[in-house]
Amino acid sequence: MRFAGQVIFVTGGAGFIGSALIRRLLSDTDAFVVNIDKLTYAACLDSIPQAMGHARYRFSQTDICNGAALRKLFETFRPHSVMNLAAESHVDRSIDGPSDFIQTNILGTFTLLQEALRYWRGLDRQSQNAFRFHHVSTDEVFGSLGEAGLFDEGTAYAPNSPYAASKASSDHLVRAWHATYGLPTLITNCSNNYGPYQFPEKLIPHMIIKALGHEPLPVYGDGQNVRDWLYVEDHAAALTLVLEAGRIGETYNIGGRNERTNLDVVRTICDLLDHKAPSAKGSHHRLISFVRDRPGHDRRYAIDASKLEAELGWRATETFETGLARTVAWYLENRTWWQAILERGYKVQRIGLSEASA
Ligand code: NAD
Ligand code: DAU
Repeated sequence: MRFAGQVIFVTGGAGFIGSALIRRLLSDTDAFVVNIDKLTYAACLDSIPQAMGHARYRFSQTDICNGAALRKLFETFRPHSVMNLAAESHVDRSIDGPSDFIQTNILGTFTLLQEALRYWRGLDRQSQNAFRFHHVSTDEVFGSLGEAGLFDEGTAYAPNSPYAASKASSDHLVRAWHATYGLPTLITNCSNNYGPYQFPEKLIPHMIIKALGHEPLPVYGDGQNVRDWLYVEDHAAALTLVLEAGRIGETYNIGGRNERTNLDVVRTICDLLDHKAPSAKGSHHRLISFVRDRPGHDRRYAIDASKLEAELGWRATETFETGLARTVAWYLENRTWWQAILERGYKVQRIGLSEASA
């Protein structure tokens, strides 16, 4: 069985992608998972339903900026790998308040690298060779594409938002810790994820929840910005594969070849809701409204995942159509999950317009 006898640290495991990764590690492998998460607004431990009482799961409420706490975790659990997903992840929030992004994404990654390095240096040679530090990153580090072309692993970094710049910085730190200190690192850069348990601030759940409330669906700018969508469980599968078989020091791009304009995404959500949850008030399409654009809004992202496909044999299993249908069905069937977030005080309202940010 995969990862038998291995301890894997997953930081940010109470978030959207981290929880999908942990669900997969618990159900499809024999890994012992330690979920290290600060539990910010974006966290939800209910997103890992099988975790409660699981013999191969532990949770630690820890900030990755806290070196002393991390050191204790390394000493206690003696991990074989670290998968770093802890981050501030929402671009609009980074426009209004970049400070948390600098703190967690840059300083947190630095602190985690330092503690991982300290621990790794104390391992015997065989354990050192087997150890991996896998940093999970984004295609936003590459900036914006024109109408043609794809991001590959050689594309120059050109981040445009505070979020993207903080993730780019963290990638550079990971690269340097490998080149300078020999820490066995892996970096993956993935495109936009969607699927179950995504926090309501992101485009797809945001639109589903607004539409169910008969509220306007705020499409930024002209709606022609393109994102390359990947179903979150396909991302989780790719991450386990890279951890297992990725080449040390390499980066791998992950994406599902599902480019769509934002307007197309919103229209498809409206079609699915018209079919699955028809409203007496009329088609959900009537709710689409164009609003002021996001500052620094990247026009197009598109991933060339051929390195991952050729080297590790990864393939996305969901098309955008099948994945989006599953996602809309999930939000319809799991209202208690997202209603609890709204009840905690989260407001599905416009942010990210501040010209002078704090
Ligand atoms: P998310 O916002 O849903 O979850 C982030 C998790 O990190 C939360 O549980 C939060 O509590 C935790 N966290 C935040 N700060 C922390 C800290 N200082 N210490 C410990 N835990 C902390 O994010 P996500 O969408 O699941 O993204 C996970 C990772 O994947 C991020 O690194 C993100 O940059 C990257 N990524 C996301 C996408 C996407 O489309 N969502 C695409 C590519 C890459
Ligand atoms: O590309 C990977 C990145 O994808 C990840 O690194 C980020 O963590 C993740 O948040 C996501 O970033 P985006 O900015 O692309 O995602 P978001 O869901 O915020 O927006 C997707 C697109 O939809 C973007 O072009 C902005 C637009 N949008 C978003 C919202 C929330 C709207 O038009 N209306 C909205 O209400």
